[in-house]
Formats: sequence, structure tokens, C-alpha cells
Amino acid sequence: MVKPAHIAIIMDGNGRWAKARGLPRAAGHRAGVEALRRTVRAAGDFGIDWLTVYAFSSENWSRPKAEVSDLMGLLKTFIRRDLAELHQSGVRVRMIGAREGLSPDIRALVEEAETLTVANRAMNLVIAFNYGGRDEIARAAQQVAEAVAAGTLDPAEITPEAFAQFLDTRLIPDPDLVIRTSGEQRLSNFLPWQSAYSELVFMPCYWPDFGPAELDEAIKRFSERERRFGGVVARTVAS
Ligand code: FPP
Repeated sequence: MVKPAHIAIIMDGNGRWAKARGLPRAAGHRAGVEALRRTVRAAGDFGIDWLTVYAFSSENWSRPKAEVSDLMGLLKTFIRRDLAELHQSGVRVRMIGAREGLSPDIRALVEEAETLTVANRAMNLVIAFNYGGRDEIARAAQQVAEAVAAGTLDPAEITPEAFAQFLDTRLIPDPDLVIRTSGEQRLSNFLPWQSAYSELVFMPCYWPDFGPAELDEAIKRFSERERRFGGVVARTVAS
């Protein structure tokens, strides 16, 4: 079976999961963290090299203040509680997204996680936090413009490959498979540049109900797809 090397997940449906149970949205996000833990372990067990998760988008700031603060708190708790296990399991942790907009304590925690796990090779966990694809591309364009203005970059050399080196995801391969839970069928500003040739799998379950069986099903659906990358002959990703 052809396995995706990089799976990216839009963890959607925490609020609806909570509502269906008469619980506050915060309870849905807490259950979402549990699902994230299960999924990271399952991805490791399935031999997935890269897992990227959309934990907080640049647009999520427009949610009620209390919910934003819940999500910030959950990231902190996740790093504090799970970093030791992730490190022990050989997981390298990184963050993509705009760091400037985050509070100093969150930035410090993220940097601690990245530094501690920098040499780990078993699996890569990328947390998209304060991430938006258009924002990422605009920030990259600013850096490109600065390099051109400084005379260190020739505009003729700005190829897609060269431009990608200015994105948060430089050094990270493009996702082979993007999964979205909760039945919604859109990307919502998640990795728009990087997912140009990704296979998309939409699953009906809410994110807190996601686990090893659902991940396995998404990988099976991926393996049945034929990837042509704009050509005519099917190509497969290295497993
Ligand atoms: C979408 O559900 C989910 C989010 C906006 C946040 C995802 C966050 C987690 C899974 C937990 C936090 C994990 C970390 C590491 C911070 P929604 O609230 O949009 O659900 P709805 O569409 O049903 O309302």
C-alpha cells in the first residue's frame, strides 16, 4: 500500500461535537486535544514521517475572547504535558504561523519544544498556530521584496522553488494527503501553496471522534488515488 509521507489535518468540528452533547465549546476543544494525542501516536505507529495539524488560524482571533484564550491555554498545556512523551518517542516538533502575534510565554514554550526536539528523527509534528496561508505567502513576499531591494536576490531568479524557501514550510515537504474532519469540504486558508497537488480526504466525523481507525481509513482512501502531478502517467509517493 502506498503510504503518504506527509499528512496534514484540519481538525474541524470541536464546537459541533460539544453542542451535540450539550457541553460548552471549550469541552470540545479539550476533547480535540485528546484526539490530537491519539492521532500523533497512531501516525507514529503507521510510520508516517510528517504530521501537520491546523490548531489555530490567523482568522480564529475573531472568535469570542474566552474561546481564543481557551485555545491559547490548550496549546500551552499540550506542550507542557506532552513534550516529554513526544521527545521520548523521537518526535521533532515545529511551529508554522506568525510568531510575532503570539504572547511571549507561548513563543518561549514553542521555542523550547523546537530546541529540545531538534535532533529527533522518528517523526515530525508541525503545529500550524496563528497560521493562515495567505498571511504566510504575504510574509514571504515581504522578505523576497526586501532581498530584491537589498540587491541579494535577482527578480529573474524568483521561481516557485526559490519562493518556497521564504515560506514557513521551507525544509518541510509538501503534504501528500490533507484530511478535514466534520464533513466540511474546503481548505480554509490551510497550506494553499503547499497543497497544490495534495490528495484531499474529507471525513464526516467531528475531530474529537477521530483516532487510529479514522486515520487508517484516510490513508487507505489515499492509497486508492492515482496521482499524476499534472502529467499523464500515475506517480506514487515514496512510502
Ligand atoms: C475547529 O473546530 C477547531 C479549531 C478551531 C481548533 C483546533 C484545536 C484543537 C483540536 C485543540 C487545540 C490543540 C492545540 C495543540 C492547541 P471548531 O471550533 O471550528 O468546531 P465547529 O466548526 O464545530 O464550531
